[in-house]
Amino acid sequence: MSIFAKTEQKLILMCMGVFAAVLIVFASLVGSVVTNQIKEESRADLRRLVDAVVASIDFDEDEEKKPSSAEPDLIVSEMPESSSQLLNSMKLEWFNFEKKLTAQKGSFKVTVPLDTNEGFVELKDPRGIMYTKPVVADNQLLGYVRVAQPLDKEDRAIEGLKNGLLLGTLAALVVSGIGTAFLVRQSMEPVFKNMQQLRQFTADASHELRNPIAAILTNSAVALKHAEGMRTGDQEKFELIEQSSKQMQRMVEGLLLLSRTEHVERVASQAKLEQVAQKCVSDLKVQSAAKNTSVELNIDPDIELNCDGDDLYRLLSNLIENAISYTGDNGTVRISALRQGATAVVKVEDNGVGIAQEDLEKIYDRFWRADKSRNYKSGNQGLGLAIVKALVEHYQGNISVQSALGKGSTFTVALPLSAQTHRSDVLEKST
Ligand SMILES: Nc1ncnc2c1ncn2[C@@H]1O[C@H](COP(=O)(O)OP(=O)(O)OP(=O)(O)O)[C@@H](O)[C@H]1O
Ligand SMILES: [Mg+2]
Repeated sequence: MSIFAKTEQKLILMCMGVFAAVLIVFASLVGSVVTNQIKEESRADLRRLVDAVVASIDFDEDEEKKPSSAEPDLIVSEMPESSSQLLNSMKLEWFNFEKKLTAQKGSFKVTVPLDTNEGFVELKDPRGIMYTKPVVADNQLLGYVRVAQPLDKEDRAIEGLKNGLLLGTLAALVVSGIGTAFLVRQSMEPVFKNMQQLRQFTADASHELRNPIAAILTNSAVALKHAEGMRTGDQEKFELIEQSSKQMQRMVEGLLLLSRTEHVERVASQAKLEQVAQKCVSDLKVQSAAKNTSVELNIDPDIELNCDGDDLYRLLSNLIENAISYTGDNGTVRISALRQGATAVVKVEDNGVGIAQEDLEKIYDRFWRADKSRNYKSGNQGLGLAIVKALVEHYQGNISVQSALGKGSTFTVALPLSAQTHRSDVLEKST
């Protein structure tokens, strides 16, 4: 996946994350406010009903003066038909001042004993809400009215609200996701075009620079071949020209390779890992011998990778060259590989200077070097690892590094095994 596709995906995911968080907070707030309102309204209705019941209780005229034996008729005379139907699904109870249940109406089952304090009580089985109100006349307690009603209507309303909010949130997320993807794509388009133009420019410029650099190199080489006729000091100047041109050539080749790996199609090809690694080690013999670095190679010769031989050479030689360069004299560099499922895991290990933890994420950046002054002395450009990473990604592999300052570094690269190596591995395991 290209860096642009990744950035686009990251942006879309980030926007969606923010949207989702906002929507969830909004839905939870709306949910809790409306739920509270539903609950409060149903409690207010119950309270109004209790007040209406209390106001409409018909006491026996004779017994009104003797509240102790008052047993009011709980039939509410002025109540419309619909209300009395509603009352049937509830429970109306009259307790006398001795807290004895003396009259009741309605089918809702209430088993809890009377609590004489005025207020609401929630019932669990069956789920309901109950309101108790003491009835006082002429400063004398006549008894208690207790009204209970099931909470199924309220529960249904809250459930409906929750489902509505959930569906609404999901629908809003889908719509905002589509909108975000569209907007992100639209806004990334010009950046993408600019980057493509820039990449094309880098590729073209690198390509065009190759010929003049080659001409400088050839001419300085010819001049150096006949150094005897030169004035004193001129040979040194030509050597400097040759050295700088070589450095420029490496940089131009690196940039050209980087701009190509990003958009060139992969062609199916295979390479023997051990053979390529062996070639890298022998080509770098001058460097390793100069520092007396021992390079140990331990790779199964049967490992074949789904990778172009030249690309694998570039990848490994960059890692091995780094391992040799960034290790002091008399160091050790170990190159090993093992198979893991359908991939080969290659390790290039050194006991050199190591990389600081805070620098680990920068080492793959183009032109980044821990020691900025090194390139003038050694010709290092800071492009090697950028090329390695681009190649690894080109072959859908993986690269990681473990390092400790002063102790050394281990670069681990996972690359896909060729179908043949993988098949023989599977066969070996099954026999
Ligand atoms: N094995 C290693 N041990 C310690 N530091 C390393 C190692 N490999 C890379 N580095 C650090 O990462 C930087 C970038 O490495 P990279 O190979 O990209 O560039 P370079 O070696 O400086 O130049 P070149 O383009 O010639 O390879 C190096 O300059 C060095 O500081
Ligand atoms: Mg390097």
